[in-house]
Amino acid sequence: MTRRVGSIEAPHRINVVLTNDRNKNYYSLSDSFSKLRSEDHGAMPHDRFFQIIKELDHLVGMKEVKDLIYEIYALLYINQCRRKRGLKADSQVLHMVFRGNPGTGKTTVARIVGRLFKEMGVLSKGHLVEVERADLVGEYIGHTAQKTREQIRKALGGILFIDEAYSLARGGEKDFGREAIDTLVKGLEDYKTDFVLILAGYSNEMDEFLNSNPGLPSRFPIQVSFPDYRLDELMQIAEMMLEQREYQLSSYARQKLRKHLQSQMHHPHRRFSNARHVRNIIEKSIRYQAVRLIQKTNPSKEDLITIGSDDLHCESSSGLW
Ligand SMILES: Nc1ncnc2c1ncn2[C@@H]1O[C@H](COP(=O)(O)OP(=O)(O)O)[C@@H](O)[C@H]1O
Ligand SMILES: [Mg+2]
Repeated sequence: MTRRVGSIEAPHRINVVLTNDRNKNYYSLSDSFSKLRSEDHGAMPHDRFFQIIKELDHLVGMKEVKDLIYEIYALLYINQCRRKRGLKADSQVLHMVFRGNPGTGKTTVARIVGRLFKEMGVLSKGHLVEVERADLVGEYIGHTAQKTREQIRKALGGILFIDEAYSLARGGEKDFGREAIDTLVKGLEDYKTDFVLILAGYSNEMDEFLNSNPGLPSRFPIQVSFPDYRLDELMQIAEMMLEQREYQLSSYARQKLRKHLQSQMHHPHRRFSNARHVRNIIEKSIRYQAVRLIQKTNPSKEDLITIGSDDLHCESSSGLW
């Protein structure tokens, strides 16, 4: 695990016990938070977090992310308690690097983190401004700094999330991407606590990117890995997405989806897009089911709920999902 936030040495009032049952695929953050509920600590009220925490809990897997959120929460909370007692409480640098393949939940988590930080009083608005290279890099001298500053300004009070951030360093010495990086670094200095910067991208590329700029790694003390989902997690995500929309898979459809995912996960020539791939299949299958059912007079409730194996058109020949 690569994340580091600082150390919490035996906090006296919060008993930090993380549920870590190896047999349990579903790791719930609210198990940890529920231990805090009964006591009133007189600082940040824990209850306010439950709504947002529930959203995070609904995400399948992601143990590292859920642990991290709890760790940051504990740290910020204890710092508030320390300040109340007149003790030192350094403000934390919360800029992050999210490493992982497409569809592993990086944007989803960044959005939730924004809202959590707002509740924790770290950010005033908690919104997410998601950008990529083209939103930051301009076409003539001075244009890039202007474009990048504009995005920082939009993100003030919230999170600036740069997807495929490594592409800023790709173009060589003369590329304006460098200017974007310099402007971002300056932004970090100028607006120390007014926004949180999250850089996201493929794992190897992000490592390369950070190593190519000696000043960068220390500015991003929180590094989180978003691993590819396992087959059973992808199946769980599929079932959850359907359940949220009040659909379910027939047992044949379930088998078919499982087989398809298994083959796609290990496809040698294609980058598999994890939960996004699952979402695309699910959304498509809902449309195909509708087309199938429209020909039927008065479909039953069961008809309307069930996604059959014929509704699953899994044979993706393009590499786009
Ligand atoms: N652990 C998860 N549980 C449920 N849904 C997920 C999970 N991870 C990702 N998703 C869903 O998959 C889709 C792609 O996720 P996203 O956050 O955009 O991935 P990334 O930013 O890493 O490419 C979204 O619809 C998201 O809600
Ligand atoms: Mg994304």
